Amino acid sequence: MATRYLGLMSGTSLDGIDVALVQVDEQAGRLGAFLEAFLSVPYAPEQRQAIREALTGSAQQLCRLNFELGGWFAAAALRLLESAAVVAADLAAVGSHGQTIWHEPPVPGARGATLQLGEPAVIAERLGVPVISDFRTRDMAAGGHGAPLVPLIDQLLFSLPDGWRALQNIGGMANVTLLPPEGSQQPVIAFDTGPGIAVIDAAVEILSGGAERYDADGRRAAAGTVNEELLARLLDDDYFGDKPPKSTGRERFGEPYARELIRGGRELGMEDDDLVATATALTARSIADAYRLVDPQALPGECVVSGGGARNPTLMQMLAEALDPIPVIDLSALGWDPDAKEAAAFAILAHLFQTGRPGNLPSVTGAAGPRVLGKLTPP
Ligand SMILES: Nc1ncnc2c1ncn2[C@@H]1O[C@H](COP(=O)(O)OP(=O)(O)O)[C@@H](O)[C@H]1O
Ligand SMILES: [Mg+2]
Repeated sequence: MATRYLGLMSGTSLDGIDVALVQVDEQAGRLGAFLEAFLSVPYAPEQRQAIREALTGSAQQLCRLNFELGGWFAAAALRLLESAAVVAADLAAVGSHGQTIWHEPPVPGARGATLQLGEPAVIAERLGVPVISDFRTRDMAAGGHGAPLVPLIDQLLFSLPDGWRALQNIGGMANVTLLPPEGSQQPVIAFDTGPGIAVIDAAVEILSGGAERYDADGRRAAAGTVNEELLARLLDDDYFGDKPPKSTGRERFGEPYARELIRGGRELGMEDDDLVATATALTARSIADAYRLVDPQALPGECVVSGGGARNPTLMQMLAEALDPIPVIDLSALGWDPDAKEAAAFAILAHLFQTGRPGNLPSVTGAAGPRVLGKLTPP
């Protein structure tokens, strides 16, 4: 019989809280998952502002935000349950990623650090079900990057019998899972390729004086021209040349980075939309270059895109050109809502926690070994 889990996720874009209701079942040791319902609850401008301020704010702000976020996550969960006509008591558990406040990957000789907020006790109190949270910390304590954590789920759900497949998520950051053929001895390869839409979002917000939060339907990028000189300079970043494991965040490819991109572009006489086009090309090209850099044997037969980036047709077009002849499709072609994958992954990670199984892939995160991920807040 299938068991129901709820996954809660808010990514680096600060666009809102994603909630996925997932049925997990296992037959003959094979895990299957079905997305029963999905909802994305956008943050109100005040909520987004509160998070942004806390990112550089005081301990008091962070402390309060933690409890606020717990309440917002619980409210989003209850909204989805109501619309799906499912009662909380029917859930085996909630898997809550929380909102990343800070993520600092390990460097040689020093462990990394990461903090996700969204107090699980508040969620457990409101829903009355077990909440599994804080999935990244144990992997980091074991020397890993604590990211990406979706690859094991990608492997369980989307491996092909006879070829490599890329699962490319484009959120604020962009991360890829290169899946070897099912049953092959080769390890899964996965890492953050670099910026997703965070730099595009930040550039658009700065250029529009806050009037636009993202490049809606990729219209600005489509109207602009990519400046190859600036693009080459941006692609010459150490991050893109580094071998995995590697992970990144807004700390590196965020608003300050976008300001620098705009400053460099202005010196070359670029117009607003040319800057957006070049930021968009940076995401597309850094993704395509990463596949070729990492392992020519693992070159995928197709690239399946998820995340908000799949909604930007100019980005998708640029990615298709950069990856040619590898076809680029979006996750809906495999029967999954492209926006739902990450939240669904945390629902499935909650199932792995509850059944005592590791959620990380050490080949991907660089951790010392497989670890059960998450902490339990009882109902
Ligand atoms: N219609 C659209 N056109 C262009 N970009 C879009 C559109 N809808 C959403 N997006 C982009 O998707 C982002 C959210 O993607 P998401 O996968 O939720 O990222 P994250 O995981 O970082 O929260 C938004 O910030 C925006 O940049
Ligand atoms: Mg999001």
